[in-house]
Amino acid sequence: MRDVKKRVLTGITTTGTPHLGNYVGAIRPAIEASQDPNVQSFYFLADFHALIKCQDPARVQASRLEIAATWLALGLDTDNAIFYRQSDILEIPELMWMLSCVCAKGLMNRAHAYKAAVAENEEAGDQDPDKGVTMGLFGYPVLMAADILMFNANKVPVGRDQIQHIEMARDIAGRFNHMFKGQYFVQPEAVVDEKVEVLKGLDGRKMSKSYNNTIPLFSSEKKLQKLVRKIKTNSLEPGEPKDPDSCTLFQIFSAFASNEEVTAMREQYAAGIGWGDAKNQVFDYLNAQLSAPRERYNALMEDPAHIEAVLQKGAERAREEAAVTMDRLRSAVGLGRFA
Ligand code: TRP
Repeated sequence: MRDVKKRVLTGITTTGTPHLGNYVGAIRPAIEASQDPNVQSFYFLADFHALIKCQDPARVQASRLEIAATWLALGLDTDNAIFYRQSDILEIPELMWMLSCVCAKGLMNRAHAYKAAVAENEEAGDQDPDKGVTMGLFGYPVLMAADILMFNANKVPVGRDQIQHIEMARDIAGRFNHMFKGQYFVQPEAVVDEKVEVLKGLDGRKMSKSYNNTIPLFSSEKKLQKLVRKIKTNSLEPGEPKDPDSCTLFQIFSAFASNEEVTAMREQYAAGIGWGDAKNQVFDYLNAQLSAPRERYNALMEDPAHIEAVLQKGAERAREEAAVTMDRLRSAVGLGRFA
């Protein structure tokens, strides 16, 4: 029987190194949500998804380890949350196939990642609008639907850019239920947290690997200091009042500091704090908050066998469920056992 807890599920594509923006925008809220006793969370490394955009095996492998170590270092309780690698659950690609066979191709034509690739080809005057588009990219939303529907997730916390994919998962779930005349899947809902900030990067644009403007969460102390010093500010001199609300440095500080600390910093801006001073304070503050998890992170990175064991345990729990779900689905489509 299903428990009554709300199921919250989200995946992290394993192509990069976690940065401050990932922490503030996704990791911190997810770890907090997993502490709610009324919630069963499913958090996984979307490493099959990583293969869609990254053909660098060393990068994918390193990123999987770094992301797992990051979540553990930040205190994810894996007795509570089910934490696993997508690629350990082979029922997921199996479900993807079943879903692919009910999913209209036309629905995938409307997926924005695919449409963006086509638009780029058309702009470049390419003969083939599908140039460079793999079946992986084209079917990406079906894989994501399988991730979500496999575990009957109720809520799926995602960034704005992913809302369309959740809608597609709902559409595919509905088609499957209709086609095979049963309530096989729960309709998932996207959750976009309006309060969660999109952190700005070194150059003031959204912090993102694609802009190469990130501050890696567990940079060494020295590197962190160097990067904080690189955050773009303006040319106002010490003594001149500064506007905190348009300031990247201030925004980053605010994402970590308490309300009182933010108010105090605001006053310092009004009083004309110099940029060098402000940066030193922000660095000291971030470093103080990050040094304990950084130590745990470094220790975990030295112990991949431990991380492997934690993920295996998560996979076991996830597979226990996936096996039951797939039994039912195999029977539904005519692939059940003979005896
Ligand atoms: N595609 C998502 C992203 O790039 C990651 C992801 C994969 C995901 N499967 C998922 C997120 C299932 C939520 C649910 O951000």
